[in-house]
Amino acid sequence: MPDHPRSRDSMPDFDFESLTYQHFDDNYPGPRHDALGAKTVFGGDPRERYRQLSLKRMLDQLNGRAPAPLPEFPNGWFGIGFASDLEPQEVRALNLFGQDVVLYRGRSGEAHLLDAYCPHLGAHLGHGGKVAGENVVCPFHAWSFDGTGQCTNVPYSDEIPADSGIRAWPLRERNGLLFAWYHAEGKEPDWEISELPEFSDPGHRIAGIRCTHFTSHVQDVVENGVDLPHFRVVHQWDADQVEWSTHGPEYRMAYRIETMRDKKRDAPEIHSTTQGPGYTFTTFAGSLRGVSTHAMTQVEPGVFQLLQIYVYHKDIPDDACEAAMEGSSYEWASDIPIWENKKILLKPLLTADDGPVSAYRRWFNQFYSTPVDQGDVEEKALRNVKEVSEGRFLMGPAVRRESTPGAES
Ligand code: FES
Ligand SMILES: [Fe+2]
Repeated sequence: MPDHPRSRDSMPDFDFESLTYQHFDDNYPGPRHDALGAKTVFGGDPRERYRQLSLKRMLDQLNGRAPAPLPEFPNGWFGIGFASDLEPQEVRALNLFGQDVVLYRGRSGEAHLLDAYCPHLGAHLGHGGKVAGENVVCPFHAWSFDGTGQCTNVPYSDEIPADSGIRAWPLRERNGLLFAWYHAEGKEPDWEISELPEFSDPGHRIAGIRCTHFTSHVQDVVENGVDLPHFRVVHQWDADQVEWSTHGPEYRMAYRIETMRDKKRDAPEIHSTTQGPGYTFTTFAGSLRGVSTHAMTQVEPGVFQLLQIYVYHKDIPDDACEAAMEGSSYEWASDIPIWENKKILLKPLLTADDGPVSAYRRWFNQFYSTPVDQGDVEEKALRNVKEVSEGRFLMGPAVRRESTPGAES
């Protein structure tokens, strides 16, 4: 081998770490404005968590880890960001559901989401585009597009070519979040996310937000809510007097928590509603009056984004809110390592004490353009079910206590 003419000292300085970090930061789908102060459920900076996750995904890919045996992106409304994180006249490049898009907020305050690429010569509107009124202006030759994707101005020509529009994505600003509608076949929304009164009630305030990324599939994460035995093993509490019912694209669950340590028979009832494949809100009464919302979005194949907002009544002291949020984070942080390392089984080995997992999966199938054959236990075979009617279940404690290993503490 001939001598290399340059000494090692003259080699270009290759900063691998900052290069990869720049790549991850460019693709980071979470909140950008540090002022929001979002933490992950593990504590720490969401951006740092996303970098770690991206490295882990690369290793998983190198190791040939199989993706989930489910459609990558279900159809429905998904929380794509905190509303307060998109400033007036801000333009942002995003990759959502495997597609490049541009998100911007017009002068009126209304947010818009369009396909990213300008039909003129293909510039990305999110990289250098500017807002003018309700339009986003392309950074290349300054064509303008309004919030419907219509081209409204070609500054150097009287001619606006036919078919010069860009696809506009349905977008809603609701409950402190921006929701985008994804549909694999491009169908328009046929249901809506509810407006929660706590967000407009001056008697309540947003006490905290969280943003966490991890590897999972949204169906697997939402399934956790009906997986009754795991509550005892992973979270050290039982969901008692569970009522679970489906209503079109929504399922509702009411239950009381009985902790392993202090058995509070008079615990207040908790009401949780899941609207579509990726949005759950849980209302609390009594000493923790408020609502916690969880937006669960498959931002990339295998990459899951959790956006949480906690809204409490103003009478509840800050330290009580903080303790409640930390408790919630602890529960999520307990589940995430399991999700990140598990397989999704289309034919799980269920018992009659597993809760309505099969019914849940049938419900979730409505969000796939092609339903997936999964689950194997009919709900009528479930034990502990006190009453069954169409899509409605009433269940007692999920697990026989004396036979649950690891729950003695
Ligand atoms: S590429 Fe957008 S205006 Fe030319
Ligand atoms: Fe859980």
